[in-house]
Amino acid sequence: MSLRLAEAVADQLRAKPASCLGLPTGRTPLGLYETLAEWSRTGALDWRAARCFALDEYIDVPGEHSFACYLDSNIFRHTNLPESARFNPLWVDDYDACIAAAGGLDLTIVGIGINGHIAFNEPGTPLASWTHCAWLTESTRRANAPDFGGLEAVPSRAVTMGLTTIMSSRKVILIASGQHKQGILSRALTGPVTAAVPASYLQVHPALTVLTDFGFEARWQPSRAVSRIQY
Ligand code: PGA
Repeated sequence: MSLRLAEAVADQLRAKPASCLGLPTGRTPLGLYETLAEWSRTGALDWRAARCFALDEYIDVPGEHSFACYLDSNIFRHTNLPESARFNPLWVDDYDACIAAAGGLDLTIVGIGINGHIAFNEPGTPLASWTHCAWLTESTRRANAPDFGGLEAVPSRAVTMGLTTIMSSRKVILIASGQHKQGILSRALTGPVTAAVPASYLQVHPALTVLTDFGFEARWQPSRAVSRIQY
């Protein structure tokens, strides 16, 4: 999964060196970043003209737990991506305007939470959402608790690209790793398109790729079921 994902990013950067990428954090993309870091160190990948936008960021978090730090240590510092091309939603007033000024997202990679969130768009987030602050659900805080040594230390708030921000990306790749993601991925891609499962909106994205390590993508038939959207 990580190799195919890394190839997709490499293809994107080769086809359009000035690509704008939306990048996730979490456990699922670690193999992706390891592979991209290796290719970048050997000079096989050129990030000089690219721009990278973190999907989300915690609010009120010690620096070492920030997603900016995660992206810097897992990928950016291994590449020649200029510092000025590393964007974080906490650092700008209007992230969507900043993305638009850069030409819009070309490729955005999103993981899925066990409650169906993408980035920090928790269940109930409307499709008409742009970059905004969000309260994190108990499920999300529990899932991220191991990184903080316990639930108490996990922040309650974050700033995140909205669903429309993500849906506006020219291409989206949805990634899921591990048996515990099977149920929610299947609900997101074969169930109703509804704010109760934010990832379900990706069903109507015109250029969605799904990559998993449990073979879901081989069995999945894209539905493009616009008429099934439930508001
Ligand atoms: P994970 O997080 O990659 O750590 O499972 C995914 C997510 O919650 O978006």
